[in-house]
Amino acid sequence: MKICMIGVGYVGLVSGACFADLGNSVWCVDKDEGKIETLNNNQVPFFEPGLEELVVKNYNSGRLKFTNNLSLAVKNSDIIFICVGTPTRRDSRSADLQYVFKVASQLSKLINKFKIIITKSTVPVGTGDKIEKIISKKKKKKYFEVVSNPEFLREGEAIRDFRFPDRIVVGTKNKKVKKKLEVLYQPLIKKGANFFATNRRGAELIKYASNAFLATKISFINEIANLCEKTGINVEDVSLGIGLDKRIGGRFLRVGPSYGGSCFPKDTRALTVTGDEYKTDLSIVKSVIKSNDKRRLVLTQRVKKILSNKLKGKLITFLGVTFKPNTDDMRQSSSLKMIPFLVKSGAKVFYYDPSGKKKEFDKLKNVFYCDDIASSCQNTDLVILHTDWEEFKALDFKKLSKRKKFKIYDLRNIYSVETMKKNGFKYYSIGR
Ligand code: UGA
Repeated sequence: MKICMIGVGYVGLVSGACFADLGNSVWCVDKDEGKIETLNNNQVPFFEPGLEELVVKNYNSGRLKFTNNLSLAVKNSDIIFICVGTPTRRDSRSADLQYVFKVASQLSKLINKFKIIITKSTVPVGTGDKIEKIISKKKKKKYFEVVSNPEFLREGEAIRDFRFPDRIVVGTKNKKVKKKLEVLYQPLIKKGANFFATNRRGAELIKYASNAFLATKISFINEIANLCEKTGINVEDVSLGIGLDKRIGGRFLRVGPSYGGSCFPKDTRALTVTGDEYKTDLSIVKSVIKSNDKRRLVLTQRVKKILSNKLKGKLITFLGVTFKPNTDDMRQSSSLKMIPFLVKSGAKVFYYDPSGKKKEFDKLKNVFYCDDIASSCQNTDLVILHTDWEEFKALDFKKLSKRKKFKIYDLRNIYSVETMKKNGFKYYSIGR
Protein backbone atom coordinates (compact mmCIF):
# COMPACT_ATOMS: atom_id res chain seq x y z
CA MET A 1 0.00 0.00 0.00
CA LYS A 2 1.02 3.62 -0.41
CA ILE A 3 1.57 5.25 2.95
CA CYS A 4 2.67 8.64 4.24
CA MET A 5 3.94 9.24 7.77
CA ILE A 6 3.83 12.90 8.81
CA GLY A 7 6.44 13.49 11.52
CA VAL A 8 9.61 11.44 11.77
CA GLY A 9 9.79 11.41 15.55
CA TYR A 10 9.73 8.20 17.47
CA VAL A 11 6.28 6.99 16.45
CA GLY A 12 6.44 8.05 12.80
CA LEU A 13 9.88 6.71 12.04
CA VAL A 14 9.50 3.36 13.81
CA SER A 15 6.07 2.76 12.27
CA GLY A 16 7.19 4.00 8.85
CA ALA A 17 10.24 1.72 8.77
CA CYS A 18 8.18 -1.24 9.98
CA PHE A 19 5.39 -0.64 7.43
CA ALA A 20 8.04 -0.46 4.67
CA ASP A 21 9.54 -3.69 5.95
CA LEU A 22 6.13 -5.33 5.49
CA GLY A 23 6.37 -4.45 1.78
CA ASN A 24 4.53 -1.11 1.68
CA SER A 25 5.75 1.99 -0.10
CA VAL A 26 6.29 4.63 2.59
CA TRP A 27 7.00 8.34 2.38
CA CYS A 28 8.19 9.84 5.68
CA VAL A 29 7.81 13.59 5.75
CA ASP A 30 8.94 16.20 8.26
CA LYS A 31 9.33 19.97 8.23
CA ASP A 32 12.71 19.67 9.98
CA GLU A 33 15.26 19.75 7.14
CA GLY A 34 18.11 18.59 9.37
CA LYS A 35 16.24 15.44 10.38
CA ILE A 36 15.39 14.56 6.78
CA GLU A 37 18.97 15.12 5.70
CA THR A 38 20.22 12.87 8.50
CA LEU A 39 17.79 10.14 7.45
CA ASN A 40 18.71 10.49 3.79
CA ASN A 41 22.29 9.95 4.94
CA ASN A 42 21.24 6.64 6.46
CA GLN A 43 21.39 7.84 10.06
CA VAL A 44 18.67 7.87 12.70
CA PRO A 45 18.36 11.07 14.80
CA PHE A 46 17.64 9.16 18.07
CA PHE A 47 18.57 5.88 19.69
CA GLU A 48 16.35 2.82 19.28
CA PRO A 49 17.82 -0.69 19.05
CA GLY A 50 17.60 -2.15 15.54
CA LEU A 51 16.02 0.94 13.98
CA GLU A 52 18.99 2.21 11.98
CA GLU A 53 19.48 -1.21 10.34
CA LEU A 54 15.78 -1.37 9.48
CA VAL A 55 15.78 2.17 8.06
CA VAL A 56 18.89 1.53 5.93
CA LYS A 57 17.57 -1.79 4.63
CA ASN A 58 14.25 -0.33 3.53
CA TYR A 59 15.74 2.91 2.24
CA ASN A 60 18.09 0.91 0.04
CA SER A 61 15.20 -1.20 -1.23
CA GLY A 62 13.42 2.02 -2.30
CA ARG A 63 10.35 1.28 -0.16
CA LEU A 64 11.20 3.95 2.45
CA LYS A 65 11.72 7.55 1.38
CA PHE A 66 12.30 10.79 3.29
CA THR A 67 11.27 14.27 2.25
CA ASN A 68 10.39 17.78 3.44
CA ASN A 69 7.85 18.03 0.64
CA LEU A 70 4.46 17.33 2.22
CA SER A 71 2.59 17.83 -1.02
CA LEU A 72 4.69 15.18 -2.82
CA ALA A 73 4.28 12.68 0.01
CA VAL A 74 0.52 13.22 0.29
CA LYS A 75 -0.12 13.02 -3.44
CA ASN A 76 1.70 9.68 -3.60
CA SER A 77 -0.20 8.08 -0.70
CA ASP A 78 -3.59 6.55 0.03
CA ILE A 79 -3.13 6.31 3.77
CA ILE A 80 -1.76 9.24 5.76
CA PHE A 81 -0.63 8.82 9.35
CA ILE A 82 -0.34 11.94 11.51
CA CYS A 83 2.56 11.25 13.87
CA VAL A 84 3.53 14.71 15.07
CA GLY A 85 4.20 15.45 18.75
CA THR A 86 1.50 16.21 21.31
CA PRO A 87 3.57 17.58 24.21
CA THR A 88 2.07 18.88 27.43
CA ARG A 89 1.10 22.56 27.07
CA ARG A 90 3.21 24.92 29.12
CA ASP A 91 0.17 26.72 30.47
CA SER A 92 -1.76 23.62 31.56
CA ARG A 93 -1.58 19.85 31.89
CA SER A 94 -3.38 19.14 28.62
CA ALA A 95 -1.94 17.94 25.29
CA ASP A 96 -0.74 20.65 22.92
CA LEU A 97 -2.50 19.91 19.64
CA GLN A 98 -1.23 22.84 17.57
CA TYR A 99 1.00 20.60 15.40
CA VAL A 100 -1.81 18.12 14.75
CA PHE A 101 -4.23 20.88 13.72
CA LYS A 102 -1.62 22.56 11.54
CA VAL A 103 -1.12 19.30 9.66
CA ALA A 104 -4.91 18.92 9.31
CA SER A 105 -5.14 22.38 7.81
CA GLN A 106 -2.29 21.66 5.37
CA LEU A 107 -3.93 18.39 4.37
CA SER A 108 -7.20 20.15 3.66
CA LYS A 109 -5.42 22.01 0.87
CA LEU A 110 -3.40 19.08 -0.49
CA ILE A 111 -5.85 16.20 -0.73
CA ASN A 112 -6.30 15.33 -4.40
CA LYS A 113 -8.33 12.09 -4.13
CA PHE A 114 -9.82 9.89 -1.39
CA LYS A 115 -7.43 9.56 1.57
CA ILE A 116 -7.56 7.73 4.86
CA ILE A 117 -6.19 10.16 7.45
CA ILE A 118 -5.11 8.47 10.64
CA THR A 119 -4.00 9.90 13.96
CA LYS A 120 -1.23 7.77 15.45
CA SER A 121 -0.14 10.55 17.75
CA THR A 122 -1.71 10.29 21.20
CA VAL A 123 -4.63 12.72 21.05
CA PRO A 124 -7.45 13.48 23.51
CA VAL A 125 -11.00 12.30 22.96
CA GLY A 126 -12.68 14.38 20.28
CA THR A 127 -9.51 15.38 18.39
CA GLY A 128 -10.52 13.28 15.36
CA ASP A 129 -13.80 15.23 15.25
CA LYS A 130 -11.87 18.51 15.23
CA ILE A 131 -9.52 17.31 12.48
CA GLU A 132 -12.53 16.32 10.42
CA LYS A 133 -14.02 19.78 10.92
CA ILE A 134 -10.81 21.51 9.81
CA ILE A 135 -10.50 19.43 6.63
CA SER A 136 -14.22 19.76 5.87
CA LYS A 137 -13.74 23.51 5.51
CA LYS A 138 -11.87 22.90 2.26
CA LYS A 139 -12.78 19.37 1.13
CA LYS A 140 -16.04 17.48 0.77
CA LYS A 141 -16.48 14.50 3.13
CA LYS A 142 -16.32 12.02 0.21
CA TYR A 143 -12.58 12.84 -0.20
CA PHE A 144 -11.40 11.68 3.20
CA GLU A 145 -12.04 9.67 6.34
CA VAL A 146 -10.44 10.53 9.68
CA VAL A 147 -9.51 7.47 11.73
CA SER A 148 -7.82 6.89 15.09
CA ASN A 149 -5.20 4.13 15.23
CA PRO A 150 -3.13 4.65 18.41
CA GLU A 151 0.32 3.16 18.85
CA PHE A 152 1.37 1.04 21.81
CA LEU A 153 5.13 0.95 21.18
CA ARG A 154 7.55 0.99 24.10
CA GLU A 155 10.83 2.85 23.72
CA GLY A 156 13.71 0.42 23.50
CA GLU A 157 11.43 -2.37 22.28
CA ALA A 158 9.49 -0.51 19.63
CA ILE A 159 10.30 -2.74 16.65
CA ARG A 160 9.37 -5.89 18.50
CA ASP A 161 6.18 -4.22 19.78
CA PHE A 162 5.26 -3.18 16.23
CA ARG A 163 5.83 -6.66 14.85
CA PHE A 164 4.14 -8.58 17.66
CA PRO A 165 1.42 -6.35 19.09
CA ASP A 166 -1.21 -7.75 21.48
CA ARG A 167 -3.81 -5.76 19.59
CA ILE A 168 -4.31 -3.23 16.84
CA VAL A 169 -6.98 -0.68 17.72
CA VAL A 170 -8.78 1.08 14.89
CA GLY A 171 -11.39 3.76 15.46
CA THR A 172 -13.71 4.19 12.49
CA LYS A 173 -17.28 3.39 11.61
CA ASN A 174 -16.52 3.37 7.88
CA LYS A 175 -16.67 -0.30 6.82
CA LYS A 176 -14.54 0.10 3.67
CA VAL A 177 -11.83 1.94 5.57
CA LYS A 178 -11.88 -0.65 8.34
CA LYS A 179 -11.46 -3.41 5.72
CA LYS A 180 -8.54 -1.58 4.11
CA LEU A 181 -6.76 -1.20 7.44
CA GLU A 182 -7.37 -4.85 8.21
CA VAL A 183 -5.54 -5.65 4.97
CA LEU A 184 -2.70 -3.27 5.88
CA TYR A 185 -2.24 -5.01 9.22
CA GLN A 186 -2.87 -8.53 7.85
CA PRO A 187 0.78 -9.70 8.27
CA LEU A 188 0.56 -8.89 12.00
CA ILE A 189 -2.96 -10.29 12.41
CA LYS A 190 -1.76 -13.55 10.85
CA LYS A 191 0.90 -13.78 13.55
CA GLY A 192 -1.75 -13.54 16.26
CA ALA A 193 -2.45 -9.82 16.83
CA ASN A 194 -6.05 -9.00 17.66
CA PHE A 195 -7.67 -6.47 15.34
CA PHE A 196 -10.14 -4.45 17.35
CA ALA A 197 -12.36 -1.90 15.67
CA THR A 198 -14.47 0.62 17.54
CA ASN A 199 -15.56 4.20 16.96
CA ARG A 200 -13.02 7.01 16.70
CA ARG A 201 -13.52 8.49 20.14
CA GLY A 202 -13.35 5.00 21.64
CA ALA A 203 -9.94 4.36 20.06
CA GLU A 204 -8.66 7.72 21.29
CA LEU A 205 -9.68 6.92 24.85
CA ILE A 206 -8.31 3.35 24.69
CA LYS A 207 -4.83 4.80 24.23
CA TYR A 208 -5.06 7.07 27.29
CA ALA A 209 -6.84 4.48 29.40
CA SER A 210 -4.16 1.89 28.53
CA ASN A 211 -1.31 4.14 29.60
CA ALA A 212 -3.16 5.28 32.70
CA PHE A 213 -3.94 1.70 33.67
CA LEU A 214 -0.32 0.59 33.24
CA ALA A 215 0.83 3.61 35.25
CA THR A 216 -1.67 2.61 37.93
CA LYS A 217 -0.26 -0.92 38.10
CA ILE A 218 3.26 0.42 38.55
CA SER A 219 2.27 2.96 41.21
CA PHE A 220 0.18 0.35 42.98
CA ILE A 221 3.05 -2.10 43.30
CA ASN A 222 5.45 0.68 44.30
CA GLU A 223 3.16 1.62 47.18
CA ILE A 224 2.78 -2.03 48.16
CA ALA A 225 6.62 -2.15 48.16
CA ASN A 226 6.66 0.66 50.75
CA LEU A 227 4.44 -1.49 52.96
CA CYS A 228 6.58 -4.59 52.31
CA GLU A 229 9.67 -2.74 53.54
CA LYS A 230 7.93 -2.10 56.86
CA THR A 231 6.46 -5.57 57.25
CA GLY A 232 9.35 -7.81 56.20
CA ILE A 233 7.62 -9.12 53.09
CA ASN A 234 9.26 -9.58 49.69
CA VAL A 235 7.35 -7.45 47.17
CA GLU A 236 8.44 -9.75 44.38
CA ASP A 237 6.47 -12.59 45.95
CA VAL A 238 3.49 -10.25 46.07
CA SER A 239 3.91 -9.29 42.37
CA LEU A 240 4.08 -12.95 41.43
CA GLY A 241 1.33 -13.98 43.79
CA ILE A 242 -1.16 -11.44 42.49
CA GLY A 243 0.05 -11.57 38.87
CA LEU A 244 -0.71 -15.29 38.63
CA ASP A 245 -4.37 -14.37 38.82
CA LYS A 246 -5.22 -13.98 35.14
CA ARG A 247 -7.66 -11.19 35.99
CA ILE A 248 -4.70 -9.15 37.26
CA GLY A 249 -1.83 -10.34 35.04
CA GLY A 250 1.84 -10.30 35.98
CA ARG A 251 3.21 -7.65 33.64
CA PHE A 252 3.96 -4.06 34.68
CA LEU A 253 4.18 -5.08 38.30
CA ARG A 254 7.93 -4.50 38.55
CA VAL A 255 8.86 -2.08 41.29
CA GLY A 256 11.17 0.80 40.46
CA PRO A 257 12.08 4.41 41.10
CA SER A 258 8.74 5.71 39.65
CA TYR A 259 7.47 5.62 36.11
CA GLY A 260 9.01 8.16 33.74
CA GLY A 261 9.39 8.76 30.03
CA SER A 262 7.55 10.82 27.50
CA CYS A 263 4.24 8.98 27.76
CA PHE A 264 2.90 7.88 31.15
CA PRO A 265 3.48 11.22 32.95
CA LYS A 266 2.15 13.26 30.01
CA ASP A 267 -0.81 11.04 29.20
CA THR A 268 -2.04 10.56 32.76
CA ARG A 269 -2.08 14.35 33.19
CA ALA A 270 -3.83 14.93 29.88
CA LEU A 271 -6.45 12.30 30.75
CA THR A 272 -7.38 14.09 33.97
CA VAL A 273 -7.81 17.29 31.96
CA THR A 274 -10.22 15.49 29.61
CA GLY A 275 -12.04 14.19 32.70
CA ASP A 276 -12.32 17.72 34.09
CA GLU A 277 -13.52 19.07 30.73
CA TYR A 278 -16.33 16.53 30.76
CA LYS A 279 -16.98 17.15 34.49
CA THR A 280 -15.84 13.65 35.42
CA ASP A 281 -13.52 13.27 38.39
CA LEU A 282 -10.88 10.70 37.43
CA SER A 283 -9.77 10.43 41.03
CA ILE A 284 -7.82 7.20 40.58
CA VAL A 285 -5.65 8.65 37.82
CA LYS A 286 -5.14 11.82 39.86
CA SER A 287 -3.92 9.89 42.85
CA VAL A 288 -1.61 7.78 40.66
CA ILE A 289 0.04 11.00 39.45
CA LYS A 290 0.41 12.18 43.04
CA SER A 291 1.81 8.85 44.18
CA ASN A 292 4.34 8.77 41.36
CA ASP A 293 5.48 12.34 42.04
CA LYS A 294 5.86 11.57 45.73
CA ARG A 295 7.90 8.45 45.07
CA ARG A 296 11.08 10.33 44.20
CA LEU A 297 10.91 11.98 47.62
CA VAL A 298 10.40 8.62 49.32
CA LEU A 299 13.51 7.29 47.58
CA THR A 300 15.77 10.25 48.38
CA GLN A 301 14.73 9.99 52.03
CA ARG A 302 15.71 6.33 51.89
CA VAL A 303 19.09 7.25 50.40
CA LYS A 304 19.58 9.64 53.30
CA LYS A 305 18.74 6.91 55.78
CA ILE A 306 21.09 4.42 54.08
CA LEU A 307 23.89 6.95 54.49
CA SER A 308 23.06 7.39 58.20
CA ASN A 309 21.40 10.77 57.55
CA LYS A 310 24.67 12.31 56.39
CA LEU A 311 24.72 13.35 52.76
CA LYS A 312 27.29 16.11 53.12
CA GLY A 313 30.60 15.10 51.53
CA LYS A 314 29.34 11.66 50.45
CA LEU A 315 30.25 10.28 47.04
CA ILE A 316 27.25 8.74 45.34
CA THR A 317 27.29 6.88 42.03
CA PHE A 318 24.33 6.54 39.70
CA LEU A 319 24.54 3.59 37.34
CA GLY A 320 22.06 4.54 34.65
CA VAL A 321 20.13 7.80 34.60
CA THR A 322 17.67 7.31 31.74
CA PHE A 323 14.03 6.53 32.57
CA LYS A 324 14.46 2.97 31.31
CA PRO A 325 17.15 0.90 29.54
CA ASN A 326 17.83 0.82 25.79
CA THR A 327 17.01 4.46 25.27
CA ASP A 328 18.87 7.75 25.63
CA ASP A 329 15.64 9.45 26.73
CA MET A 330 15.83 11.42 29.98
CA ARG A 331 12.29 12.75 29.95
CA GLN A 332 10.67 12.58 33.41
CA SER A 333 13.39 10.24 34.63
CA SER A 334 13.45 10.00 38.43
CA SER A 335 17.20 10.74 38.30
CA LEU A 336 16.31 14.31 37.30
CA LYS A 337 14.71 14.82 40.71
CA MET A 338 16.98 12.62 42.81
CA ILE A 339 20.40 13.91 41.67
CA PRO A 340 19.70 17.66 42.21
CA PHE A 341 18.32 16.88 45.68
CA LEU A 342 21.39 14.88 46.63
CA VAL A 343 23.93 17.46 45.47
CA LYS A 344 21.94 20.23 47.11
CA SER A 345 22.26 18.29 50.34
CA GLY A 346 26.04 18.26 50.01
CA ALA A 347 26.77 14.99 48.20
CA LYS A 348 28.90 14.61 45.07
CA VAL A 349 27.31 12.53 42.33
CA PHE A 350 29.20 10.53 39.71
CA TYR A 351 27.16 8.88 37.00
CA TYR A 352 27.63 6.52 34.12
CA ASP A 353 25.01 5.69 31.51
CA PRO A 354 25.56 3.46 28.46
CA SER A 355 23.74 6.07 26.35
CA GLY A 356 26.31 8.73 27.30
CA LYS A 357 26.61 12.06 29.08
CA LYS A 358 23.44 14.03 29.74
CA LYS A 359 23.12 17.74 29.12
CA GLU A 360 20.45 17.87 31.84
CA PHE A 361 23.19 17.69 34.50
CA ASP A 362 25.69 20.03 32.83
CA LYS A 363 24.74 23.04 34.92
CA LEU A 364 24.69 21.21 38.23
CA LYS A 365 27.66 21.68 40.52
CA ASN A 366 29.16 18.46 41.86
CA VAL A 367 27.66 16.15 39.25
CA PHE A 368 30.26 14.36 37.14
CA TYR A 369 29.93 12.06 34.15
CA CYS A 370 32.28 9.07 33.95
CA ASP A 371 33.04 7.07 30.82
CA ASP A 372 32.69 3.65 32.41
CA ILE A 373 31.35 1.76 35.41
CA ALA A 374 34.76 1.37 37.07
CA SER A 375 35.68 5.05 37.16
CA SER A 376 32.20 6.08 38.30
CA CYS A 377 32.39 3.75 41.30
CA GLN A 378 36.08 4.09 42.23
CA ASN A 379 35.77 5.89 45.56
CA THR A 380 32.05 5.73 46.05
CA ASP A 381 30.15 5.54 49.31
CA LEU A 382 26.94 4.43 47.65
CA VAL A 383 26.13 2.88 44.28
CA ILE A 384 22.57 3.55 43.14
CA LEU A 385 21.45 1.13 40.45
CA HIS A 386 18.95 3.46 38.83
CA THR A 387 18.32 1.98 35.37
CA ASP A 388 18.39 -1.74 34.60
CA TRP A 389 20.70 -1.75 31.58
CA GLU A 390 22.03 -5.23 30.73
CA GLU A 391 25.61 -4.26 31.54
CA PHE A 392 24.68 -3.63 35.18
CA LYS A 393 23.32 -7.13 35.69
CA ALA A 394 26.56 -9.01 36.46
CA LEU A 395 28.74 -6.51 38.31
CA ASP A 396 31.78 -7.61 40.26
CA PHE A 397 31.00 -5.70 43.45
CA LYS A 398 34.18 -6.91 45.17
CA LYS A 399 36.28 -4.81 42.83
CA LEU A 400 33.91 -1.90 42.39
CA SER A 401 34.90 0.63 45.08
CA LYS A 402 38.07 1.30 47.00
CA ARG A 403 35.95 2.10 50.04
CA LYS A 404 35.43 -1.15 51.88
CA LYS A 405 32.17 -0.12 53.49
CA PHE A 406 30.45 1.17 50.37
CA LYS A 407 26.74 0.50 50.06
CA ILE A 408 24.49 -0.51 47.19
CA TYR A 409 20.94 0.69 46.62
CA ASP A 410 19.28 -1.31 43.85
CA LEU A 411 16.19 0.56 42.59
CA ARG A 412 15.37 -2.19 40.07
CA ASN A 413 15.84 -5.28 42.27
CA ILE A 414 18.42 -6.66 39.82
CA TYR A 415 20.28 -8.69 42.45
CA SER A 416 19.26 -11.36 44.93
CA VAL A 417 19.14 -10.17 48.55
CA GLU A 418 20.39 -13.55 49.79
CA THR A 419 23.44 -13.68 47.49
CA MET A 420 24.40 -10.09 48.24
CA LYS A 421 24.10 -10.70 51.98
CA LYS A 422 26.06 -13.95 51.75
CA ASN A 423 28.87 -12.05 50.03
CA GLY A 424 28.91 -9.47 52.79
CA PHE A 425 27.65 -6.47 50.82
CA LYS A 426 25.61 -3.69 52.39
CA TYR A 427 22.78 -4.06 49.95
CA TYR A 428 19.40 -2.34 49.89
CA SER A 429 16.65 -2.77 47.35
CA ILE A 430 12.96 -2.00 46.87
CA GLY A 431 10.25 -3.69 48.88
CA ARG A 432 12.30 -6.59 50.22
C1 UGA B 1 4.67 3.34 27.26
C2 UGA B 1 3.73 2.17 27.01
O1 UGA B 1 4.24 0.99 27.65
C3 UGA B 1 3.55 1.91 25.51
O2 UGA B 1 2.59 0.88 25.30
C4 UGA B 1 3.05 3.21 24.83
O3 UGA B 1 2.94 3.06 23.44
C5 UGA B 1 4.04 4.32 25.12
O4 UGA B 1 4.17 4.50 26.54
C6 UGA B 1 3.48 5.57 24.46
O5 UGA B 1 2.42 6.02 24.86
O6 UGA B 1 4.05 6.01 23.46
P1 UGA B 1 7.33 3.67 27.30
O7 UGA B 1 7.04 4.98 27.98
O8 UGA B 1 8.25 3.67 26.14
O9 UGA B 1 5.97 2.99 26.78
O10 UGA B 1 7.98 2.70 28.36
P2 UGA B 1 7.47 1.59 29.38
O11 UGA B 1 8.24 0.35 29.12
O12 UGA B 1 6.03 1.46 29.42
O13 UGA B 1 8.00 2.19 30.78
C7 UGA B 1 7.51 3.42 31.29
C8 UGA B 1 8.05 3.63 32.69
O14 UGA B 1 7.50 2.71 33.62
C9 UGA B 1 9.57 3.45 32.81
O15 UGA B 1 10.09 4.43 33.67
C10 UGA B 1 9.73 2.06 33.40
O16 UGA B 1 10.94 1.89 34.09
C11 UGA B 1 8.54 2.01 34.32
N1 UGA B 1 8.06 0.64 34.61
C12 UGA B 1 7.56 -0.14 33.63
C13 UGA B 1 8.13 0.17 35.92
O17 UGA B 1 8.59 0.87 36.85
N2 UGA B 1 7.65 -1.08 36.18
C14 UGA B 1 7.14 -1.88 35.22
O18 UGA B 1 6.71 -3.02 35.55
C15 UGA B 1 7.10 -1.41 33.92
